[in-house]
Amino acid sequence: MRAALQDRYGTPEVVRVGDLPDPVPAADQILIEVKAASLNGSDRENLSGRPFYSRVGGLRRPRDPVPGSDVAGVVAAVGNAVSEYAPGDEVFGELAGYRGGLAELVATSPKLLARKPPGLSFTEAAAIPQAGSIAYRSTRGVRPGDRVLVNGAGGAGGAFVVGLAKHLGADVTAVDRADKADYLAGLGADDTVDFATEDWSDHRDRYDLIVDLVAHRSPYRVHRALRKGGSYLLLGGHTRILLATLTAGPAIRAATGKQVKVQVVPQSREDLEAVTALVTEGAVAPVIDRIYPLEETPEAYARLAAGDNQGKIVIKLP
Ligand SMILES: NC(=O)c1ccc[n+]([C@@H]2O[C@H](COP(=O)([O-])OP(=O)(O)OC[C@H]3O[C@@H](n4cnc5c(N)ncnc54)[C@H](OP(=O)(O)O)[C@@H]3O)[C@@H](O)[C@H]2O)c1
Repeated sequence: MRAALQDRYGTPEVVRVGDLPDPVPAADQILIEVKAASLNGSDRENLSGRPFYSRVGGLRRPRDPVPGSDVAGVVAAVGNAVSEYAPGDEVFGELAGYRGGLAELVATSPKLLARKPPGLSFTEAAAIPQAGSIAYRSTRGVRPGDRVLVNGAGGAGGAFVVGLAKHLGADVTAVDRADKADYLAGLGADDTVDFATEDWSDHRDRYDLIVDLVAHRSPYRVHRALRKGGSYLLLGGHTRILLATLTAGPAIRAATGKQVKVQVVPQSREDLEAVTALVTEGAVAPVIDRIYPLEETPEAYARLAAGDNQGKIVIKLP
């Protein structure tokens, strides 16, 4: 089969497209003929091996040479112990271990996958799983009128968070590069902040919820931007800040009544189905930036690494 290959951590030049033997599903796996796969910020991290948590399971080199976690495709075969799916079923979801998806075929556990709604194309379905699940988890409990700040709003997860928060009736401030301001306003953001010229953590007592996808501020600083009873959720960012937030969160809560915590987003079929239901009913939509054929995966990674994408980059397979 043809597959994108990454044998070491580095810049987009380490990604090439080559041949691998077809995978054979284990008894508890299904074999998917991949029709589309999308890239997330985690794929950029898994490319460079930074932050450090992206090397879990592959300290010196990626443990699976095939990158890519979000896929949509058709079941080509099932293992002996799988009764839930049959060849021909259309499925989508996030792959366990966050790798293996940028290939014509992938053998994986069916537990995390869901049936693709017939009204969604493979491209649309592949753009949902990780970004949609991040948004679904981080916006639970948002009420109409809440003030929500999304840091890193122009990326894969951020755009989905903006869309869901607006659907829930929030007033949304979107933080990212200045040249993404029009794009963010188009997604519904009420206000945009250019992170290069303005520090949102100076916005004292302003937000009910802060969703931080690119955390690099001390937990002792970010809580000041929260209103009384507000929550700061760290989704991704520097490992040092992640550890500091885990450690300091309980003390900050005890002292201020504000929640400052790391938000874990489990790979979950239930979350995927819940957020996909919101997509099919038109409450929120995955935003597609560009679609590349598999053979142009290195170019797709170059765009992702440069941060030039506005929305999801999708790789389409024949
Ligand atoms: N908590 C969990 O369980 C969980 C699960 C899955 C993923 N994640 C993590 O979630 C994180 C975000 O994912 P994603 O897919 O949304 O990432 P992404 O697509 O890379 O988006 C990040 C966005 O932030 C922008 N940005 C860069 N530096 C910034 C700064 N200093 N201030 C504000 N914005 C800045 C980026 O702009 P440029 O592109 O121009 O740099 C980009 O638009 C990743 O770290 C991923 O590992 C967490």
